[in-house]
Amino acid sequence: MIYNTFAIPATADRYLSVSDKQELLEIIKNGTLVKAPFFILGGGSNIVFTCHYHGTILHPENKGIHLVEKDPATGDLLVEAAAGENWDGFVQHCIAQGWHGTENLAAIPGTVGAAPVQNVGAYGIEAKDIVHTVLTIDLATGQERTFTNEECCFGYRNSIFKDTLKGKYLVWSVTFRLHSTFTPDLHYKALSDALTAEGIDMPTARQLADTIAKVRWSKLPRPEETGSAGSFFKNPIVTTQHYERLKTDYPDIVAYPTVDGYKLAAGWLIEHAGWKGRSMGRCGVYEKQALVLVNRGGCTGSEVVTLANAITEDIKNQFGVTLEKEAIII
Ligand code: EPU
Repeated sequence: MIYNTFAIPATADRYLSVSDKQELLEIIKNGTLVKAPFFILGGGSNIVFTCHYHGTILHPENKGIHLVEKDPATGDLLVEAAAGENWDGFVQHCIAQGWHGTENLAAIPGTVGAAPVQNVGAYGIEAKDIVHTVLTIDLATGQERTFTNEECCFGYRNSIFKDTLKGKYLVWSVTFRLHSTFTPDLHYKALSDALTAEGIDMPTARQLADTIAKVRWSKLPRPEETGSAGSFFKNPIVTTQHYERLKTDYPDIVAYPTVDGYKLAAGWLIEHAGWKGRSMGRCGVYEKQALVLVNRGGCTGSEVVTLANAITEDIKNQFGVTLEKEAIII
């Protein structure tokens, strides 16, 4: 079984799938987990294995989605989903139940447990906009700890679980703040353009999720057909002065203002540096979205890193911008 969407065969000293809390507590209690390195694997959709992993791969596969609370006055809902649930399966379930708020995040590969860790985002919203609380288990003591949204310290593709508390807690379930009435969030331009093109003015939740899936798969490779880790790089943030210099040299550069300066579309930079569609060894830059590196067949983790490093160096030389990987390299 290959547990990564880049489809790179990989091995580890030990692989532990946990679907039961008691089972996890036993593993923690016998003390073998934290003695050697370990890595928590979600859907494997954001990871590149470059060598044998000398340690334990811990894979939460617990299941369950339920309505925790409904405020009859406001229609606000709290919905809890287990970490091992497939993310898109969760989104589809919410739509079927009339629980709204997840629609823009339809079709993202991965699991519910990984969503708050890297604050997944697409089409104008991020996990942080709908996460209420995150129930975790301390991997050293087995104690439960609930993090509020604020305590998760969400940032762009980042959270406290990826940062200062990395490897300390396992996300066991996530509670989302959803709503029983549907108010579409259409502020992402590519999304409103796609709906207009379909002749849809005010989409239903199903139409919105379906349109997003359509836009997504028109630009990104389907994991079952082509190996990739989705966006390989993050969109870099530069100072306003740096952006203004770049804008003078490249008037059509794509950028969005942020609190710290400007977020540049890394896909635009990579495409304009001439990398789109190119390959090095068996790893390539996807033809329809330059932010995505793809497995051209039999690609190894080292080939991915070689190509990623060559692109990073080139972007630094051409634009003075340092690209940061979104994918985790093991
Ligand atoms: N662009 C190019 N060339 C390319 C790719 C993009 O010029 O090859 C330009 C586009 O024309 C557009 C801009 O860059 O003007 C942004 O492109 P897009 O809307 O495709 O979004 P993105 O910034 O490249 C981000 C996320 C994606 C998410 C999309 C849609 C990151 C690192 N990536 O991509 O997330 O699906 O927005 O919201 O933030 C993922 O993380 O795996 C992922 C796919």
